[in-house]
Amino acid sequence: MTALTPDFGDPSRLTESLSALSRGMHLSGILRTANQVRELRAGGAEVLDFSIGDFGPKYFRIPEKLLRGVERALESGATNYPPPPGLPALRQAVTGYVERCSGVRYPAEAVLITSGGRPVLYAAYRTVIEPGDTVLYSVPSWNNDSYAWLSGANAVEIEARSENGFQPTLGELEPHLRAARLLCLCSPGNPTGTAMAPEMFEAILQAIVRENRRREKEGNERPLFLLYDQMYSSIRVKDNKHRYALALVPEAAPYVLTMDGASKAFSATGLRIGWLLAPPAIVKKVGELVSHMGAWAPHAEQAGLTELLNDPDAIARYREAMDAAVHERLDALHRGFVAMRNDGLPVDVLCPDGAIYVSLQLDLRGARIGERVLENNEMIRSLVLEQAGVALVPFQAFGLMRETGWFRLSVGAVSLEEIAEALGRIRKLLEQVTDRASSDR
Ligand SMILES: Cc1ncc(COP(=O)(O)O)c(C=O)c1O
Repeated sequence: MTALTPDFGDPSRLTESLSALSRGMHLSGILRTANQVRELRAGGAEVLDFSIGDFGPKYFRIPEKLLRGVERALESGATNYPPPPGLPALRQAVTGYVERCSGVRYPAEAVLITSGGRPVLYAAYRTVIEPGDTVLYSVPSWNNDSYAWLSGANAVEIEARSENGFQPTLGELEPHLRAARLLCLCSPGNPTGTAMAPEMFEAILQAIVRENRRREKEGNERPLFLLYDQMYSSIRVKDNKHRYALALVPEAAPYVLTMDGASKAFSATGLRIGWLLAPPAIVKKVGELVSHMGAWAPHAEQAGLTELLNDPDAIARYREAMDAAVHERLDALHRGFVAMRNDGLPVDVLCPDGAIYVSLQLDLRGARIGERVLENNEMIRSLVLEQAGVALVPFQAFGLMRETGWFRLSVGAVSLEEIAEALGRIRKLLEQVTDRASSDR
């Protein structure tokens, strides 16, 4: 019998018939690079891929304890629905883990387990925001533009400055706090790899508390909340600047929703386990929304993670090895670009504080390489990919639309040898630059 092949009709007519919400969504600019990398590789090119915000399992494995725990849980039948807010034992284990990391003891009801960090972010936006409410965040940042769109928010974007590691300052945020319903911060940041200075973060938290005191006194305004994305907080490279919000300003407790998870802490992006730390009343409502989405974390993975989080020694051993592997990669990349800058090549680079990213500026606007005059980041990205075979992501993919020449490089899926090779290729390309018009930034 021949199988039936369905005829789905005209795809663009179907797309046009869908909701305005779905038509207004845009896919991440990172995917464009990923597609091109695939095509180039299919054509035989040797591409060094620094565009993936993920871990290559060749270099970064999940902890053995987590792996065995998941296997055991699957074998023992943890294949049905987990309780929607997460396994009680895991919620409890997260409180212990958080206490060891930060000195803050949350109750288990202040923890919600979800399938990775994304459902926390989406559901937190949807739980806090009424359409038209103002959300304040800086660019470049990860995915706030999409969540603001999906929740009908009025997005106020602040362009963060390279001299502040592309993290926002209180001075930049403060004028907008009065009108804001939600402030979103992320540290260590994606795409920047930089962390907020603890003193600055503390000052911002104090401003949030002050603003809420004002609202309470005046009586008719809903609070200003902070959504704090600390997905990269566990990776410790160099002097760890990361702070938990409540460790700095405990009075901010009613207003802070913290997102974290196993994805980046344990190179476990495919396992899909994230968590929210927030006042129990908020956890309950976010949890209801997440449960309608069915976005709870897989049962066996939750059981495996519980075992790991309850074993500080296993975590410490894993941290030592993973942090060293991330650090040596970030450091090699950073040092390589500093050397190019010192040699007068048109690059700038930020010293990474954490995460798996290095921010690189290729100051090439107006430059000529061969026949090509480079007018924008997209042209620079294509040139570096096609001629050096190195894939980078421009900051436009993170909402910084101005042509600043900044790019994200991720070290999660590359070896030290590949980093050395990429540095050599980029140097060679930059040495071919001629006729550099002075840039206007
Ligand atoms: C800053 C940041 N927050 C949250 C997430 C989401 O993590 P998950 O993969 O657990 O959904 C990512 C993923 O790349 C991220 O970079």
